[in-house]
Amino acid sequence: MSCRSGVRGRFLVLFGDSFNAGRVMRQRYYIGDIGDYDGQEVTLEGWLAGRRSSGKILFLQVRDGTGFIQCVVGRGDVDDEIFEELAALPMESSLRVTGHVAVDARAPGGFEVSLVGAQVVSAATLEYPITRKEHGVPFLMDHRHLWIRSSRQFLQLDTPILTPTACEGTTTLFETNYFEESAYLSQSGQLYNEATAMAFGKVYCLSPAFRAEKSKTRRHLIEFWQIEPEIAFADLDDIMDIQEELVAEMVGTVLSERASELGILERDIEALERVKPPFPRITYSEAVELLNKAGHSFEWGGDFGAEDETVLSRQFDRPAMVTRYPRAVKPFYMENDPDDDRVTLSVDMLAPEGYGEIVGGGQRMMDAAQLEERMREDGVPIGDYQWYLDTRRYGAVPHGGFGLGIERVVTWICGLAHIRETIPFPRMLNRMRP
Ligand code: 4AD
Ligand code: MG
Repeated sequence: MSCRSGVRGRFLVLFGDSFNAGRVMRQRYYIGDIGDYDGQEVTLEGWLAGRRSSGKILFLQVRDGTGFIQCVVGRGDVDDEIFEELAALPMESSLRVTGHVAVDARAPGGFEVSLVGAQVVSAATLEYPITRKEHGVPFLMDHRHLWIRSSRQFLQLDTPILTPTACEGTTTLFETNYFEESAYLSQSGQLYNEATAMAFGKVYCLSPAFRAEKSKTRRHLIEFWQIEPEIAFADLDDIMDIQEELVAEMVGTVLSERASELGILERDIEALERVKPPFPRITYSEAVELLNKAGHSFEWGGDFGAEDETVLSRQFDRPAMVTRYPRAVKPFYMENDPDDDRVTLSVDMLAPEGYGEIVGGGQRMMDAAQLEERMREDGVPIGDYQWYLDTRRYGAVPHGGFGLGIERVVTWICGLAHIRETIPFPRMLNRMRP
């Protein structure tokens, strides 16, 4: 993003030339454009959004409304006085920092600023009331004017329903005519999300998904809705943190805003009240052991079916995240586990009380050549996926995301016996009418 087309560019579009009228503009830098300043010294003006320290180094998260950036400062890099001030500065204090911008894949936004100077503009006079712990909705609404400062920067970008290719494998595709060509109804917006995540960092789509799956269970629909976030510069642990936060937030909101409806449904409220992070995180291999210990024999290597998931999810009192499924049971796009090449950096979230899978996702394969090889192995027609491979050819980054099935989550939260109750006009194996 160049300065002209970037955040400042948008400012100029809004305010026209009058923005500049009558005074000499000093150069302004915005975190949203930070990539333009790689290797340069910049001065950023913003608020303190987070802080970690490791011995003699401070890691400051600074936000300015266009984005967040990690600023690193070591004792001795700046005056002792300002170093001490930064080390104790309350969250949401305003500050001005000067430093050198550099690419750093480990930093949350991919860039980091090494500070050479800093100035507190205005120290917050109270401890900031919104922390990482859970807050109730009434509390957050009372602090709405501060809550809007939190980083909820996921951008919704819609993905197409008519697609030329499969996302989740060719066996469950609905085919239709697209003039002289064939098209398929989307199974998932994921592949498009991966492209938009490279453009906007954190994105999501909320979209219908179609699976021509001959499954007749109480948790399968042919047409269902998914919310699918996708995040650039994220690894498997980041993906799990977001899944956990999203699901806990959904349950918490239903508990506080829809208690009377839960009463009508005679839902066991206590079971929902336990849905608080941290959720258990176990590997597929551990899950297989758990199944066998529960007297439900299961061989390593296969995919969990509805029955296996039911048994598994009865072992936990809150949603559990199962990671690292074998290569063979997951789609081509899953990243390999660097510690065990039999398995992938995948994660499914299983709802408790026997409900089973509500979320599926993971870290995506990053290397273009490796991904292409994997696609060939799976018999994926590479020609149609060139645009997708471009997401790896032009600035690949570690990234990942997940799909949360709306009707599956509603079935579980409402304690329903069958998914057909959650959607006005269910499409199932043996039902397309009314
Ligand atoms: O696990 P799935 O197949 O994953 C994907 O489609 C990924 N591309 C998502 C991503 O990473 N962006 O589906 C995701 C979720 C499942 O966990 C489940 O909740 C729901 O979608 N789902 C269904 N819900 C109802 N009926 C079906 N037939 C479903 N298939 C999947
Ligand atoms: Mg799945």
